[in-house]
Amino acid sequence: MLGAHSLKAVGATHRLLAGCAVNASVLRTDKAYADLVAGQSSILVAENAMKWHVLHPAHETYDFDQADAIVAFAESKRIKVRGHNLCWHRSIPQWVTSLAAGQGRDVLTEHIEHVAGRYAGRMHSWDVVNEAIQIKDGRPDGLRLSPWLSLAGSDYIEVAFNAARTADPQALLCYNEYGLEPETEDGRRKRQATLMLLHRLKTRGVPVDAVGIQSHLTAGNTTEFGPGLMSFLREMRMMDLQVFLTELDVNDRRLPADVVTRDAAVAETYGRYLDMVLAEPAVTVMLTWGITDKYCWLNKEGARPDGQTERALPFDADYRAKGAFAAIRSSMERRVVPARRP
Ligand code: XIL
Repeated sequence: MLGAHSLKAVGATHRLLAGCAVNASVLRTDKAYADLVAGQSSILVAENAMKWHVLHPAHETYDFDQADAIVAFAESKRIKVRGHNLCWHRSIPQWVTSLAAGQGRDVLTEHIEHVAGRYAGRMHSWDVVNEAIQIKDGRPDGLRLSPWLSLAGSDYIEVAFNAARTADPQALLCYNEYGLEPETEDGRRKRQATLMLLHRLKTRGVPVDAVGIQSHLTAGNTTEFGPGLMSFLREMRMMDLQVFLTELDVNDRRLPADVVTRDAAVAETYGRYLDMVLAEPAVTVMLTWGITDKYCWLNKEGARPDGQTERALPFDADYRAKGAFAAIRSSMERRVVPARRP
């Protein structure tokens, strides 16, 4: 479908891997979805299938059924895979949160060794730690009061990255974060705390290769992104980090119900964002968080007040390309291919 003009084809000529988050059970049961995903993507990520609660529901129990299915699908189509994620404050099963303080350190290391070890040599990258900064939690270092802080210690991020490198020396190791985009005081503080965290990690020789900018955008919000993000991306390049746009989507909940109006505003937001960020040569990967509105997570979290289906993704619920798709592709086509990294 859309063959030579697919996102993966355009990405290939503009130094960008392109893809989306996928749902393992839909991939198995819906051939049209699987074909759409395979036709557009040079990289995939599991939307939920590699999270703790799915992979490791009890201390002695791992369940790789869905994760293996995604990796097998990708490999059969020669599509790269990102792992998401090894350490997050959400999706932690209760057997972990009920451990005593400090007891999570070995559990975290074992989990990472087992999971990253299983796919060693086959993953493009891992989101090793997800969303570790939360300014309003009030710590001077900006770290979120994540259960992992007490479970595994204040250096849990370092522990996680080191374990991931040991388990899979080939995968690029990524710190993934949201809220880095806005041209607001909150955005500025989050970028600053993230920069400090990455500096600390680099200084201590912790193996971090990339930063993930989640890129959950909202149409109709004028402070959603701007020059602050571009300076941050430049800093990332100076620190020799790659930049991945990991979870791009455009929430339309602020817009009226009219579909034409919504689709135009969503497409315009995608285009303006990508025109800006793709100018940064450190950006090497772009994934949308889903591919079709039919399975968009925003219909559950952050849903429209009027109950209408979100139109946040490049394809509609009938798998037809929308203006968003055209806008993404045009921005990618406009990208001036950056000089090769030294
Ligand atoms: C979301 C999934 O899309 C939902 O299906 C699930 O119920 C909750 O998690 N940031 C992340 C992702 O890093 O893992 C989240 O995914 C969306 C926000």
